[in-house]
Amino acid sequence: MTLPASFSRSDFGEDFLWGVVISAFQNEGACDADGKGASIWDTFSARRGKIKDGTHAREACHFYVNYRDDIRLAKQLGFTVFRFSISWPRILPLGKGAVNQQGIDFYHKVIDACLEYGLEPYVTLYHWDLPQALEQKGGWCHRGIVFAFENYVRICAQAFGDKVKNWIILNEPFGFTSLGYMLGVHAPGKFGLSYFLPAVHHVALAQAEGGRVVREEVRNANVGTTFSCSHIIPYTQSEADIKAARRADALFNRLFIEPSLGMRYPADDFPLLHRIERRYAMWRDWEKLPFDFDFIGIQNYFPLVVKHNAFMPYVKVSEVKPRYRNVPVTALGWEISGVGMYNILKKFAAYPGVKNIIVSESGAAFNDTLEAGAVNDAQRIRYFKEYIAGALQAKREGVPLSGYFAWTLTDNFEWAEGYRARFGLVHVDHATQQRTVKASGKWFSDFLHFRHALK
Ligand code: NOJ
Repeated sequence: MTLPASFSRSDFGEDFLWGVVISAFQNEGACDADGKGASIWDTFSARRGKIKDGTHAREACHFYVNYRDDIRLAKQLGFTVFRFSISWPRILPLGKGAVNQQGIDFYHKVIDACLEYGLEPYVTLYHWDLPQALEQKGGWCHRGIVFAFENYVRICAQAFGDKVKNWIILNEPFGFTSLGYMLGVHAPGKFGLSYFLPAVHHVALAQAEGGRVVREEVRNANVGTTFSCSHIIPYTQSEADIKAARRADALFNRLFIEPSLGMRYPADDFPLLHRIERRYAMWRDWEKLPFDFDFIGIQNYFPLVVKHNAFMPYVKVSEVKPRYRNVPVTALGWEISGVGMYNILKKFAAYPGVKNIIVSESGAAFNDTLEAGAVNDAQRIRYFKEYIAGALQAKREGVPLSGYFAWTLTDNFEWAEGYRARFGLVHVDHATQQRTVKASGKWFSDFLHFRHALK
């Protein structure tokens, strides 16, 4: 597979959406300002040893205060879409019950700024910051969460639906259930199957119910959800490795999209999922899992090479890390592969129910340094050239791709990594909140303003 070596914005067509993405917890700061309740990430990041560089997101990028400048910057860089998330505990400090009007007012201001600068808002309803009060009652492991989520979505849809047409129900359901409820390395720090399986099921129900609520409340809504995904390659052609790759694919790629398309959980390739099917059969839940999304968001950061490993609990799969394979990686050790992006887009486009795809996040962390007022992040430019080329090739081959959103505008709080993993097109000095557009930001801007063809 060879990817296009040179192209320009016009190769994607005039209607193609070019967006940039942030999220509430990673950017806003102001974690207890104006009536906001605590989220599981406020609690988790305050626990010793949970964030690798010992930092917290109490200030983050102070988007709560700097939102206008940041949105203007996104516009100046040439983007047409601004994707951000709403913090559930800013709207409902206890997860349900009394609404915090100051939270509603804040997101009105954010949306108004997008509209004023001519950026189309794409609003994510859940980007991992569950109200702590709901976690106390079992969080995503408790069935009541589905009703709480519906209620929260309805409040947002009613409050903002006149201004916002584009809604993303969940950000990476597999990402937050696996890291937060299976491995315990993200909030709320739970681990084991007894947390993971119920969390998966309630999240899958919430994904569909949330979609239905937005459809009911917002006229002409464009409703989507996003999936983390990786092109999966067996390490060898042995039967054991091929089966291992199939199990990994079921888990990493198919777990949330297939029930939403009415295909049920991919239990044949990952038999543990039969437990979910059996446990929730009496509620006939499989009838509630499908939802006809207008678009799906693809969030592909790296491909995965996997092999059979009999010692790995449950999955019996392990990753063959990029460092053993002599491939280019980002600062987080994630393999860089535009071909992986191409392959995963082709894979998701092959589902009959998928009508429209957006790359709803794409980006990379590198060890950027600010020197003499500039950040020369040539590696990130190369990364974007490769991933955008992969996306273009897939589009040329018929994938219904309508947008590409970069992760992320400003260096922000990268969850358990803290601030040291910098993903931004814009450098942030977190002590002063000073923004400096990186070389990659300038490169993106030139691309979006048709100032260069990609070479
Ligand atoms: C996926 C998540 O949605 C986002 O919050 C995160 O920062 C990026 N990937 C990079 O890890």
